[in-house]
Amino acid sequence: MTTDITTKGAAPGATAPGETVLDARGVTMRFGGLTAVRNVDLQVNSGEIVGLIGPNGAGKTTFFNCLTGLYIPTEGEVRYKGTVLPSQSFKVTAAGVARTFQNIRLFANMTVLENVLVGRHTRTKEGLWSALLRGPGFKKAEKASEDRAMELLEFIGLAAKRDHLARNLPYGEQRKLEIARALASEPGLLLLDEPTAGMNPQETRATEELVFAIRDMGIAVLVIEHDMRFIFNLCDRVAVLVQGEKLVEGDSATVQGDERVIAAYLGEPFEDAPGQEEIAEVEAAEAQAEAAPRKENDR
Ligand SMILES: Nc1ncnc2c1ncn2[C@@H]1O[C@H](COP(=O)(O)OP(=O)(O)OP(=O)(O)O)[C@@H](O)[C@H]1O
Ligand SMILES: [Mg+2]
Repeated sequence: MTTDITTKGAAPGATAPGETVLDARGVTMRFGGLTAVRNVDLQVNSGEIVGLIGPNGAGKTTFFNCLTGLYIPTEGEVRYKGTVLPSQSFKVTAAGVARTFQNIRLFANMTVLENVLVGRHTRTKEGLWSALLRGPGFKKAEKASEDRAMELLEFIGLAAKRDHLARNLPYGEQRKLEIARALASEPGLLLLDEPTAGMNPQETRATEELVFAIRDMGIAVLVIEHDMRFIFNLCDRVAVLVQGEKLVEGDSATVQGDERVIAAYLGEPFEDAPGQEEIAEVEAAEAQAEAAPRKENDR
């Protein structure tokens, strides 16, 4: 996977320095008897990359869903640049909050470029159906939109694949395309739900660079990831969710050194937890994967 990341000037949705971009207060989400998210406060300021970590089932994706209008929180309030966010997801996107999904949600039978153009529908007069149906005159009217979509594809390194069907892209490139589609709505805040899941170490490092470049364009980022190296390299601040509650929040060193965080991840063995032998096998495989390309370069 090649990435040609050139930092652009400020993105159209860029936030002013010193601004509180996201202000979530007392967010609670209950499903019947289960409280998936309990009384969570989280702020993201302009220029920041904030991480959200926690064991499986901690409520991270549910929290994202509460921020983006997919769920209406049982309690609490979510503000974007001081204004309470609407409770429908397309209005949240229009307000300036874009996201990617843990399970990739691309239009598999549309091209790379078309997927990004769909992401622009909140920023164009023509709207979603016009983008999908591509009626007469659409191309001409959407020239500016297409230029911007191509700019974004260049930014993430997929311009050469503009006419490929999304479903034919390797997995790592599908994840990048989702990011380009999210950027197409010109957000001031980007939420990434496990952007490196399924990626190899090289792709993960390229994604790190991509997120830094997005931040440098003036877009604040909130990112969920299980890859701790990725999170601690990238984030200015990290919040830890455990069983729906925010356990700790701080810079990387603070979070890494907090015994409660270590206990939350390692303390209590869970059902089907991998044994030492399986952990060693996975680590050996990872080490091998990291070593392989270096050998190639040495030749
Ligand atoms: N729509 C729903 N209805 C009922 N329960 C739900 C719903 N969505 C999530 N949950 C539950 O809420 C809890 C939190 O799930 P969530 O997907 O937010 O966790 P997560 O932290 O994103 O986990 P992972 O790291 O595995 O992605 C889980 O117990 C899950 O089963
Ligand atoms: Mg999740």
